[in-house]
Amino acid sequence: MIPQWLIEQKRDGFALKEDDIRSFIKGFTLGTIPDYQMAALAMAIYFKGMTDAEISVLTDAMMCSGERISFEGWPRPTADKHSTGGIGDKLSLMIAPLAASAGLAVPMISGRGLGITGGTLDKLEAIPGYNTHLTTEAFKQVIATVGCSIIGQTERLAPADKKLYALRDVTGTVPSIPLITASIMSKKGAEGAETLIFDVKCGRAAFMRSLQDARSLAESLSRIGRALNRKTAALITDMDQPLGRSIGNAVEVAEAVETLKGKGPADTRELTLELTALMTVVSGLHANMDSARVELARHLDNGRALDVFRKMVIAQGGDPRFIDDPTALPQPGHRQWLKALCSGYVADVDALAIGRIVLQLGGGRTKTDDTIDYAAGIEALVQQGDYVEKGEPLMCLLAKNSSLTAAHLATACSAVKLTPDKPAPRKLILQTLD
Ligand code: URA
Repeated sequence: MIPQWLIEQKRDGFALKEDDIRSFIKGFTLGTIPDYQMAALAMAIYFKGMTDAEISVLTDAMMCSGERISFEGWPRPTADKHSTGGIGDKLSLMIAPLAASAGLAVPMISGRGLGITGGTLDKLEAIPGYNTHLTTEAFKQVIATVGCSIIGQTERLAPADKKLYALRDVTGTVPSIPLITASIMSKKGAEGAETLIFDVKCGRAAFMRSLQDARSLAESLSRIGRALNRKTAALITDMDQPLGRSIGNAVEVAEAVETLKGKGPADTRELTLELTALMTVVSGLHANMDSARVELARHLDNGRALDVFRKMVIAQGGDPRFIDDPTALPQPGHRQWLKALCSGYVADVDALAIGRIVLQLGGGRTKTDDTIDYAAGIEALVQQGDYVEKGEPLMCLLAKNSSLTAAHLATACSAVKLTPDKPAPRKLILQTLD
């Protein structure tokens, strides 16, 4: 296989042969094919796309570039949920323990936030002592004893994806459906869960801005999942507005704990229940969504899911004091309240603007090696449909110092639109694919 011939073939819109895709990925992983040739192929794929057969082979080649975890013979069904990323999306923190409390085994390998979207891994690292780098043996041990474990991608798991994702991030080739599908499915395939539920975010703060693109991605993920012999289903959910009232790392952990205590914002609770219910139904634990929702809501309200979460934190070396006392999480140097200049209903909270503000307050990265301020973010954020009186808070900005918060007050103010009339209720779940 001559790498440049393969690049030319894709550039000219032809489908690639299985052996060629496999050799190319193998060479890239081993370093015999340089980054510039991989980047050129990624750009050709970005423009010319791939057939399902090509995506399947690419996924398999990337999955087989490293270790594959197996749960064969385990007494509980295994299931995982994957989100394509959004603002305020702390759902994994509730879904893993809730699904485990219902009887699933949940191996969850999460990523860091990059750009404006947050990452579960960064949120977990806001918990003092929590170890996100377990060996495969330790990961399986935590799942066997607690029911779930959330860790980061190891060096051994889908290394081709780890390398390719970093390259795509700096070559403008992230938002490609074949490449996103192969990236997500190679990791999820290697992780070993039998059931995979996708939360495909759609809206101005998501990779997929239109419903049509989100649907194409959801269908592509489901098709490739089935080709890998996984049971799959997907929800397409709104990412025009942030999820919940807290955006950042430590504050999202605190909001996740509130939700696990049966409280928390209504949108956060609703999506937690829907996605977890889908996991239990698709994996055969519950007969239908209604009975799943009822049982899972009970587990949020009676503390069973919180109990699993506490055990997971302890099993992974975390100090669980924050569960009863949120001030045990990293605290900001400065809090700045932003007040409404007039009375009215909240018609819109711009998730893209909110994500950008949180990143600049220190809560995100612009480069992979940037350090995060875990305490930075926004809390007490109003949501679409809320009514606020003039002078009441719209949100509270959290950062190291007052000059950081002051720099973002004006943009924060224009991210929230107030109107005299009550807006139509937000549609959280845009489509379901099962
Ligand atoms: N998440 C991934 O893991 N990969 C992508 O390409 C996009 C989102």
